[in-house]
Amino acid sequence: MLRSHNCGELRVSDVGCEATLCGWVESKRDHGGAVFIDLRDRYGVTQVVIGPPEADQPAIDFAGRVGAEWVIKAHGSVAHRLEGKVNEKLSTGEIELRCAAVEVLNASVAPPFVPSQPDLPNEDLRLKYRFLDLRRPQMQRSLITRSQIIKEMRDYFAEHDFIDVETPILGRSTPEGARDYLVPSRVHPGQFYALPQSPQLYKQILMVAGFDRYVQVAKCFRDEDLRADRQPEFTQLDLEMSFVDAEDVIAIIDGLVDRVVRKVLGRAIPTPLPRMTFEEAMRRYGSDQPDLRFAMEIVDITEIAKTVEFRVFRATADSGGFVRGIKVAGQAEDFSRRRLDELTEFVKRDFGARGLAWFRVEADGTLWSPTSKNFTAEELSAITAAMNAQPGDLLLFLADSWNVTCRGLAGLRKRLGAELKLYSPDSLHCSWITDFPMFERDEESGQWHAKHHPFTAPLAEDLELLATDPAACRAQAYDLVINGSEAGGGTIRIHDPATQQQVFELLGIDEATARDRFGFLLDALKYGAPPHGGIALGIDRWVMLLAGLENIREVIAFPKTQKATDLMTEAPGNVDADQLNELRLRTVSVKT
Ligand code: AMO
Ligand code: AMP
Repeated sequence: MLRSHNCGELRVSDVGCEATLCGWVESKRDHGGAVFIDLRDRYGVTQVVIGPPEADQPAIDFAGRVGAEWVIKAHGSVAHRLEGKVNEKLSTGEIELRCAAVEVLNASVAPPFVPSQPDLPNEDLRLKYRFLDLRRPQMQRSLITRSQIIKEMRDYFAEHDFIDVETPILGRSTPEGARDYLVPSRVHPGQFYALPQSPQLYKQILMVAGFDRYVQVAKCFRDEDLRADRQPEFTQLDLEMSFVDAEDVIAIIDGLVDRVVRKVLGRAIPTPLPRMTFEEAMRRYGSDQPDLRFAMEIVDITEIAKTVEFRVFRATADSGGFVRGIKVAGQAEDFSRRRLDELTEFVKRDFGARGLAWFRVEADGTLWSPTSKNFTAEELSAITAAMNAQPGDLLLFLADSWNVTCRGLAGLRKRLGAELKLYSPDSLHCSWITDFPMFERDEESGQWHAKHHPFTAPLAEDLELLATDPAACRAQAYDLVINGSEAGGGTIRIHDPATQQQVFELLGIDEATARDRFGFLLDALKYGAPPHGGIALGIDRWVMLLAGLENIREVIAFPKTQKATDLMTEAPGNVDADQLNELRLRTVSVKT
């Protein structure tokens, strides 16, 4: 190599040795008589000194002309730093490399930002100059963590007899509920491949083919609205197993969580991971991905609301709605009217709530709010008792449909948990949510949708409900939740063609459509399909959550923006007319 050591390696024990370093100029201090350069590479930073007696004046002048982010090579001898000049923050902070000269391997034009600057430049600039952004130690750390997590995953599954099989990127549409990315076929003009939303159907086919245990680090593509934890192109750790039930899949993943957390974070997490049914999660936290790092549980006061005068509560409770609330312990004093108005706006705007009713618990234990005059003292004390409220607490209530109270209170919980720092930033909570409903009903059209995907098997004891009461039919489905984020989801699959047909019918997928889209799967199910099931983990989310980051773009080398563009390569972009002609495609402008 061009170097003898890396920039994070030299120590006091190397003093007196010769060394050659290569790296980027992180900073330069030119004292005229000597030039000090902090030289950086992936491994660290070492101070390089070009000064007398080693260097002559022309060499010192030359070193003074190197700029930020130039790539240089420096050969010299390792020496103690001068008294009082030791840098405790650097692993190499006790030594420096004294050189006669530096060799410029490559210059750099003036960078729009330098990787060492403490305040982050705006994200668009970081994404456009990703090669500079990726030089930042934080970015290197998150990609190294990512690599370690994937390595542990691969090792774990190899040790458990899983076979890594690659599945196609060019294929048919897979129904994970998002819009497809389509690729036009040149050979079949007018026809399209769909990029996989997941390898779901292929992995089921592999089970029919007898592979027994499959795993893959798989790229998935979904054209959906992007958020802080969603990318159009993301990576799953995808697996499938034969002759298993939900317990077996959950046990395998419990073992994986234990292994990854231990090996990568050096921490222990008790397994088996705790579990909660979907019904319990919605009742206690209003969400199927509850953040269990803190309590703030939802309390249902609908029964009390049926007896009060306050119109908002009474009318909702009497017409089949719900009145539910949360207690914000000890915050009555700290929440100004303005802040409460802001929370009211938040639940109205983001969750379609009609309002937010709040009460302060006074020093004498009574409740006060602008609406408290609409309640009798008995009614207020019934609410206090139900909420187990203490002086100084703040109570927040929504009166609405079940869904709106769930969404709104979950939103408040999430926001307040973060704002009030109700958990420590390095706490880690993993749990399973199980027994999801098989279907969701579109509130407007009345159409049933699969809550996971249409290949999910119902719980054995709920099988009959498929025909009689689909809304009550629960699935053999399990989601892994880490710190309030869905970090994985899987199900046991339907392996008998008749049940599969029944589910398709419920979802409004008629026989012809089912044949056209999933004929190969329906055929495979007829040729001896073993009972099987699996799960997919969102690798990007795992890395984000385990690294304590809040934005998925921080753990992907070349991510897309919220608008699904790559600012560095400027994808998506225009293509040549010739390419379009070859594909028999024409673009038309449509006014929107
Ligand atoms: P699901 O759709 O739940 O299941 O996806 C599994 C996991 O993938 C992650 N994920 C995403 N991560 C980043 N950006 C996205 N746009 C995105 N979408 C999903 C989540 C999620 O939990 N075939 C089934 C799995 C199975 O049944 O085995 C599937 O894809 O962490
Ligand atoms: P109103 O009678 O609509 O002026 O509402 C009186 C108070 O009740 C206001 O503080 C509203 O924010 C609150 N409120 C109104 N509708 C609801 C609701 N559905 N759930 C909870 N609080 C509500």
